[in-house]
Amino acid sequence: MPSVVHANGRHALQVDGKPFTVLAVQLHNSSAWPAVLPEVWDDVLALHPNTLEAPVYWEQFEPSPGKYDTTNLDALIAGARSHGLRLVVLWFGSWKNGQMHYVPEWMKSDPVHYPRALDEHGTPQEDMSPYAESNLHADETAFAALMDHLRKVDGDRHTVIMVQVENEPGSIGAIRDHSPAAEQAFAAPVPDALTRALRRPPGGNWMATFGADADEQFNAYGISRYIDQVATAGKARYPLPMYVNTWLRYKGKHMPGYDYPSGGATWNVLDTWKASAPHIDFIGTDLYSTDYNEFTKVVGQYTRADNPPWISETGFEAGNAPYLFHVLAQGGVGFSIFGIDHPADTPEVKAAIEAHARNFALVGPIQGLVADAAFRGTLKAAVEQRGQAKSDVALGGGWTAHVSYGAPSWGDAPPELPGNPAADGHVLFIPLGKDEYLLVGFHARVEFERDRSDKRMGQVLRVEEGTYEGGAWKARRWWNGDETDYGINLGQKPVYLKVRLGDY
Ligand code: DGJ
Repeated sequence: MPSVVHANGRHALQVDGKPFTVLAVQLHNSSAWPAVLPEVWDDVLALHPNTLEAPVYWEQFEPSPGKYDTTNLDALIAGARSHGLRLVVLWFGSWKNGQMHYVPEWMKSDPVHYPRALDEHGTPQEDMSPYAESNLHADETAFAALMDHLRKVDGDRHTVIMVQVENEPGSIGAIRDHSPAAEQAFAAPVPDALTRALRRPPGGNWMATFGADADEQFNAYGISRYIDQVATAGKARYPLPMYVNTWLRYKGKHMPGYDYPSGGATWNVLDTWKASAPHIDFIGTDLYSTDYNEFTKVVGQYTRADNPPWISETGFEAGNAPYLFHVLAQGGVGFSIFGIDHPADTPEVKAAIEAHARNFALVGPIQGLVADAAFRGTLKAAVEQRGQAKSDVALGGGWTAHVSYGAPSWGDAPPELPGNPAADGHVLFIPLGKDEYLLVGFHARVEFERDRSDKRMGQVLRVEEGTYEGGAWKARRWWNGDETDYGINLGQKPVYLKVRLGDY
């Protein structure tokens, strides 16, 4: 059974009893239909993923109250199996991008029984009220039916390894719900469980406790409690790992309800989410940036003792591909590229396919080793930042790697290194044993320095190029001479290098 395991403030998704690196792609929103699926597989496989993320639409799954249609879900599972992929099911339920567009028509057209969130003027929003029992009950019931079906058809195969509960929850259009039930809750004391978890004084109402942040905190609490109950109902039927994805508060945007959905699991209310949604295994980030500083900043915000980094979505662009290595080296669960089917025939899209496919094809065969090291906290990475042609990586185990970008593929480097034209160098160091690393990556020169306190020099003892066949290392050749005397140079071609180091 897929599960999430924790040790020393780190986390791993386990599949078939072992840590698993999710190398995923996600379909466009309206592509997970049986009539459309045959068109997507070539596009999916071109990226070399090990996992597909695809939505199940509440409006399709429950066309009339209590009647479930599993046709779409069954087609997804069959398609994933026949293409050798794992599946992450995305439950497009009460929330999709801070709105309610995927709730069934019979609910949309009956706001009396299924109340909308209201803004401060009492105007109904395109959002379900998180404070209406009927809304929660409807979502819980449908989601439980979905999980029940998964258990029946996939409980012994585990094609589906994880479920995303809702999609980018939160409210667009208002900072919080002002429905009568919400108003009553807003005037009442903040629940003790939350004030305790946030180390705030007990007994105050939302304004007294949170001041200017009260509206957003209140919405975060209401939505996280709602989603936690949906997840609980689903796990009672079939306890797969579950996560929530986040429309982020980043890139200088800071207006909840306008710049981003208010009450989603943004960094400023993450503690509230963690305290209020204990059945959500982790919080994912929909991180659409190719900017080194922005990307690594967000990864840092979500790498916590109670949360692993998980890039639930990233843009279909070449520029973000190197950051996969950064995410994994922070103990990350994985990475998913959004909207890869029916690609436009442009040079930019071709470059995106190439960059991500190259990474996934490289990491795929060693994903178990990578996930294991990420979970232990021993996986290290270097990712090029534009304008910085050198970086040092402390590998642990008495070695530092000097990584540089823009040097020739052999021979002395110029005194001033230019960096790579696309700033796309990236390297992963996977420890294999004492003084031994598996080195993979692209567009970088790597030199090892012994950094133990006895100050003795170190040396490269052997560099083997090879592959893992059925889990066993098979060397193809040894690198030496020009291939190692000027550092170990990783180029455009994927290679697996086993590097053994030693004392001088
Ligand atoms: C984030 C959402 O989660 C996806 O479903 C999709 O709408 C993308 N945004 C589009 O950029």
